[in-house]
Amino acid sequence: MRNPMLRSSVSLAIAVSSIAVSSAHAQQARAVDMKAADARAAATVKQMTADEKVVLTHGIMPLPLGGPTPPMPADAIAGAGYIPGIERLGIPALKETDASLGVSYVMGIRRDFSTALPSGVAQAASWNPDLMYRGGAMIGSEARAKGFNVLLAGGVNLMRDPRNGRTFEYLAEDPLLSGMLVGAAIRGVQSNNIISTIKHFALNGQETGRKYVDVKISESAARESDLLAFKIGIEQGQPGSVMCAYNRVWGEQACASDWLLNKVLKQSWGYKGFVMSDWGAVPNIEAALKGLDQQSGEQLDPGVFFGDKLKDKAASDPTWKARLDDMNRRVLTAIYASGLDKNPAKPGGKIDFAANGMVAEEVAKQGIVLLKNNSALPLAKSAKSIAIIGGYADGAVLSGAGSSQVHGEGGPAVVRPVGGKGVWAGFIAQQYHRSSPMDAIQALAKDAKVTFRDGRYIADAVEKAKQSEVAIVFATQWQTEGLDVPDLSLPDGQDELIAAVAAANPNTIVVLETGGPVKMPWLDKVAGVVEAWYPGARGGPAIASVLFGDTNPSGRLPLTFPASEAQLPRPKLDGSDWVEPDFSGGPSSGSDKLTADYDIEGSDVGYRWFARQGAKPLFPFGYGLSYTTFDSTGLKVKGLTASFTVKNTGKREGAEVAQLYLVDRAGQAKRRLAGFQRVNLAAGASQTVNLTIDPRILADWKDGGWTMPAGEYTFALGKDAETLGTPVKVKLPAKRWKD
Ligand code: BGC
Repeated sequence: MRNPMLRSSVSLAIAVSSIAVSSAHAQQARAVDMKAADARAAATVKQMTADEKVVLTHGIMPLPLGGPTPPMPADAIAGAGYIPGIERLGIPALKETDASLGVSYVMGIRRDFSTALPSGVAQAASWNPDLMYRGGAMIGSEARAKGFNVLLAGGVNLMRDPRNGRTFEYLAEDPLLSGMLVGAAIRGVQSNNIISTIKHFALNGQETGRKYVDVKISESAARESDLLAFKIGIEQGQPGSVMCAYNRVWGEQACASDWLLNKVLKQSWGYKGFVMSDWGAVPNIEAALKGLDQQSGEQLDPGVFFGDKLKDKAASDPTWKARLDDMNRRVLTAIYASGLDKNPAKPGGKIDFAANGMVAEEVAKQGIVLLKNNSALPLAKSAKSIAIIGGYADGAVLSGAGSSQVHGEGGPAVVRPVGGKGVWAGFIAQQYHRSSPMDAIQALAKDAKVTFRDGRYIADAVEKAKQSEVAIVFATQWQTEGLDVPDLSLPDGQDELIAAVAAANPNTIVVLETGGPVKMPWLDKVAGVVEAWYPGARGGPAIASVLFGDTNPSGRLPLTFPASEAQLPRPKLDGSDWVEPDFSGGPSSGSDKLTADYDIEGSDVGYRWFARQGAKPLFPFGYGLSYTTFDSTGLKVKGLTASFTVKNTGKREGAEVAQLYLVDRAGQAKRRLAGFQRVNLAAGASQTVNLTIDPRILADWKDGGWTMPAGEYTFALGKDAETLGTPVKVKLPAKRWKD
């Protein structure tokens, strides 16, 4: 179904400029001081009345959601959440908006626009914490300009299954990479004197039956994988709030899990901020005793638990009273730490969409991954004829859907409604941002005759491809929150289209706009493959810049591209026959019994699973090509520091992502990313890289702490998780420590 909203004439002024990313950003980013804020919060709690103590603990979703809509407070902004303030004590209301890719559009109600960053996985493919910081700072500034003081960003669930419908929103399958990147993004968001979340805590690995799925995983496996990503993210980013997840863990809802919230987050890690619930994830009032501090979007829950009911409990029971004080103290700690009261966000701030668009474009450029190149790329700007096929590439680039959906300036260029039943039916559609790859290609290949075919008719597309020097097929895989993809194929007959075009033109390039990995049965037949993900507000110019070599591709895969679903720990996604109950409150047609057994792979998520199985993926974690070549040599490991030299051995400037892997520990094969660094190098230039290895990456979680056995630890530099250099051994002593 094609939509008349497609405007092929969308034309943006294309100023392809490279933004120097300065690491100064990361350095300037002062971590928020949670300790000082905590002391101030404790003093405020002492002044609060019993009524005031149940103000910060719950709030509504300030949106007309159907059904009885609670009255909208005068100062609420249409968005994800609203928690009233307490004027007498100078405590501001919390005004919350989604999410990690920009300020979300919430069904268009606010009638404003925001700058869309590329998808989370695209951001992560940059392997660049400084750039993550800049992206976070940019979207945080837009949230602030709209009057929001909480950005529900920081999505960092590990990608245990690439079919997860939110793969596009998350970052990576590795805990070190995910944690470092999310921490930097959170620092960026919070540099605007607003609070960022980190979410969804934890083990929220699939959308199918997401409120019901019960995750089984051993504590050690969880601590070494998903929880480690959160821990590193919290250390690096100091988020004011942790959003707990929808799923169950060992039979408990994550938002009422004593183990996750009290034991791990607050006791073991000493987290001082507050836990907010995901929307509609609070089962009962007891969740408060299990560690939940704030009930969000309360009209979506079976009841308002954290208001008067909580006040009554606190009035009669000292345990509840102490808990309620702690809940307030934690919310206030986050408010004070980010300076929400001293530097209040006000609606009506100015947004420089041109400047912010350039940040989005830079993220897209650094996140695009060149997967295959038979020397066809970069394309010559002198090309005489270029056929562009599919993907609405004459006017737009794809985005992912759900709560993170952003509307860029002018609204979407294409909206394709999605049918089907369930929670998300009617709410979501496939939306394409208004950024034209075709216009950007034409701007760089000025003399070329650039033609477009939408790809519905294969013979017609083939005809155009035959008449052109180069054929570029834009292939899409749409993902959305709320639904997993059934398999890793490109939908809608696109494989057939690509194969036919490739048979007709040896210079066929495939540009993928996918949420995550897809299978490529036509891989051998095409001259080049570029993974552009969902490339955001200025995806068109970013793609063109990579295709023509103005940008030397430097993205690396933050997750494995499997050759087939059979290689995954769960060849069939748990609950593929699941029927999601709807919001209408009728009898649930979804079964309550759905289990995800994460002990199959344990902490060996992604490439670690592939290494353990000896399975060969289509493209490994860490993989990505460049238009130049690099050599990393001279690896030396001393204790927990590694050093080596990276050299650009080719003819043009480029960026390498140096990757250090643990490959063996005390005679046991292992594969763990132990460190990474992105290095920009002029042709012929070299640089020494020093990495400090986080001992948790080398350790196992055992009996309540981290344990490193004494012995020889073997490391290797990797072009990716599979292409490893000469191993280097270092003897390390046994070590044991608490988290
Ligand atoms: C999502 C969260 C989001 C919240 C508020 C939930 O459905 O899981 O990521 O922040 O809605 O919109």
